Amino acid sequence: MSHADNDAGDHGATRRDFLYFATAGAGTIAAGAAGWTLVNQMNPSADVQALASIQVDVSGVQTGTQLTVKWLGKPVFIRRRTEDEITQGREVELNQLIDQSAENENKPGEPALDQNRTLDEAGEWLVMLGVCTHLGCVPIGDGAGDFGGWFCPCHGSHYDTAGRIRRGPAPQNLHIPVAAFVNDTTIQLG
Ligand code: FES
Repeated sequence: MSHADNDAGDHGATRRDFLYFATAGAGTIAAGAAGWTLVNQMNPSADVQALASIQVDVSGVQTGTQLTVKWLGKPVFIRRRTEDEITQGREVELNQLIDQSAENENKPGEPALDQNRTLDEAGEWLVMLGVCTHLGCVPIGDGAGDFGGWFCPCHGSHYDTAGRIRRGPAPQNLHIPVAAFVNDTTIQLG
């Protein structure tokens, strides 16, 4: 079990919201009504390709909710942002940020502007590793913290609506993995 898993388990609110699904193959799932779903790659015989790259059906993810999937042993947050969240994220100037790098594997070296953090140009979809960049806890989402994004209760790190660190000990923005839409309703990780 990873550090992140342990920490998720330490916080009742997080554990309560997780649903576990054993999946065959690539682990494509629909979002649950609660907006919190965890893909658990439990089959040790799953081939390396399936583990390195999964496709996630996001057709059931409502605006203002987040789907959590487990990929390569880590939680990945897939949030469909509201207009307010997009506006808040885009109003932030670079010089207000602790970490001015986008930390986005899809846009290496780009500055941490909101539009360099999202998967689509409209800024609706934000895909990030759900791993606090301080010591690896799983932050709480759904508008948590002082900046309307995510909050890590372990030592008090606040992330904004683009997952950028704004206050607390975490040194970096939440990391964005290799991800892309492969069609209108499917996001591939890896
Ligand atoms: S692990 Fe998140 S604030 Fe320390």
